[in-house]
Amino acid sequence: EKNHNVIFKNSVEASKVVAEEIAQLIRLKQSNNESCVLGLATGSSPIKVYEELVRMHKEEGLSFSSVISFNLDEYYPMTKENRQSYHYFMHEHLFNHIDIKPENVNIPDGTVALEQLNQYCTDYDLKIKKSGGIDFQLLGIGRTGHVGFNEPGSHINSGTRIITLDHITRVDASSDFNGIDNVPKRAITMGVSTILKSKRNVLMAWGQNKSEIIKRTIQGDISSDVPATFLQHHSNATFVLDQSAASEL
Ligand code: GLP
Repeated sequence: EKNHNVIFKNSVEASKVVAEEIAQLIRLKQSNNESCVLGLATGSSPIKVYEELVRMHKEEGLSFSSVISFNLDEYYPMTKENRQSYHYFMHEHLFNHIDIKPENVNIPDGTVALEQLNQYCTDYDLKIKKSGGIDFQLLGIGRTGHVGFNEPGSHINSGTRIITLDHITRVDASSDFNGIDNVPKRAITMGVSTILKSKRNVLMAWGQNKSEIIKRTIQGDISSDVPATFLQHHSNATFVLDQSAASEL
């Protein structure tokens, strides 16, 4: 297997294919009595994948009882009850509608005290490792080239940690927060190395406003200036695009 791009007419078709791959992996692992470790993403890009997984759970009996999930990131500081939290997002779009065990859900905790964060982040990576490593990682991409919240400057060897959000990222998030002044300045994110250790990476991007960063990600030099370019190093990464996001390739 190697890296490649798949271009779909639209994000609905693309999301169905991605959801089907995830479902097949869950079923395969289940039949071997193994847990399936999913790395999950937030943002608008994965919403239709989650919708499709929920549909498969309700209509086709797809069970998530053997799934362990690790989310990529969370704003910091951020309470779980906050509507803008990724904790809230994941429950609203996925976890509240499927049979995943609550104890198998892992999302970086935006309430951990600052002085305990380093240990917390080290433990997050350790927990991923102890669970057997991520089998399938879903990714979106920010206009800065971030995956998770690994903003420009992120090192290829970086693990889970606290980062400072890029100005562009905060501008893009400002509509969710009723203005940029309300957007947190920091976040906890899985590191680049955390993501690269996943056995499979699928990055999804939809729409014209992602076309430039997609071109730089897929065709540009590998560099921490565009952290998503590190996926070019990964042996099993796929870029799933709609026609607009792929328009500059
Ligand atoms: C946020 C998330 C990223 C996500 C990006 C793109 O910054 N932390 O994980 O990929 O937004 O969001 P969207 O999918 O809404 O374009």
